[in-house]
Amino acid sequence: MGNSGQNLVPEYSLDRDCTTLSRHVLQQFSSFTTEAQDISAIMSRVALAAKLITRRLSRAGLMAGALGFTGETNVQGESVKKMDIYANDVFISVFKQSGLVCRLASEEMEKPYYIPENCPIGKYTLLYDPIDGSSNVDINLNVGAIFALRQQQGDDIDQTGSDLLQNGHKQIAVGYVLYGPSTVLVYSLGKGVHSFILDPSLGEFILAEENIQIPTHGPVYSVNEGNYWQWEESIREYIRYVHRHEGYTARYSGALVGDFHRILLQGGVFLYPGTVKNPAGKLRLLYESAPLAFLAEQAGGKASTGTERVLDVIPEKIHQRSPLVIGSVEDVKLVESFIQDWTRRESEGVREMSARNK
Ligand code: AHG
Ligand code: MN
Ligand code: MN
Repeated sequence: MGNSGQNLVPEYSLDRDCTTLSRHVLQQFSSFTTEAQDISAIMSRVALAAKLITRRLSRAGLMAGALGFTGETNVQGESVKKMDIYANDVFISVFKQSGLVCRLASEEMEKPYYIPENCPIGKYTLLYDPIDGSSNVDINLNVGAIFALRQQQGDDIDQTGSDLLQNGHKQIAVGYVLYGPSTVLVYSLGKGVHSFILDPSLGEFILAEENIQIPTHGPVYSVNEGNYWQWEESIREYIRYVHRHEGYTARYSGALVGDFHRILLQGGVFLYPGTVKNPAGKLRLLYESAPLAFLAEQAGGKASTGTERVLDVIPEKIHQRSPLVIGSVEDVKLVESFIQDWTRRESEGVREMSARNK
């Protein structure tokens, strides 16, 4: 900090206040290229969407027509909340006439939304989960948003997004917004993971932490244990293991973004395994699992389907689901080891319990 900073009230740092999101994005590039300017402008639009959604969420309980269900079901067969639609439309509105993004694909829309006037210049597609953790929205608990930017890969003649069926390494920029006591934006362009906090008095996202690293192990396991009898035996064995060993504690908020944020900062593992009814689990690869997998790896963590690196998975359809085990390297490996163990014993016809659980 320069000398002038010493005269400020101690809790404020001018250097910090000036490290806004768009400035930080530009610093991630070595020169002031068109790409750098485009990505910075796109991130600023995402930040604008986050500010608009923050404003709505903070007053939703006082507004008519902001909370509750719409009565519709989405392409995933899930009941849609009014806030899902509001947030979905906010992302569309902020990118209209921006010249930046040709297409938006969201878990709330069956097909990608084209912005034809942007397409001659905007080479990108933004994939997003507009409100993650919708079940929390009506009770004023934390919710989030997840986004991933991909380069337009080729023709999408039938406009179904078939060219988006690519692995997670193709993501250029990913991040999430956590609407909690503060609004936090976490992003990565493949050069580390950085977090920003919305300062409402400035209306700007200000750098909070650079190059976040997930601890290699943490005490938290985060899973919906209500699904215990719906899981495969391998997952039940893992859960019995953590129940029987000291040093583990359960945390589950019902919003992936919040649960992942805790693990990013403090370590541990989040899992949403397959169930009898839904062998691929609940989370969507392109809008939820792949973006968070990119962040986890960038922060020195790990993300797996249980048997495969999430970033390697090539979806067959844009709304495809995938099991997710994500977080600290050691904790993700432990879950994987239970799955491998069980698969091996099953193939050998050995039905007895894992030695680790006796
Ligand atoms: P969304 O609100 O976008 O549909 O996502 C909800 C997801 C995720 O945020 C959370 O981890 C999980 O669903 C909770 O599901 P369960 O209620 O089945 O545990
Ligand atoms: Mn979600
Ligand atoms: Mn959602």
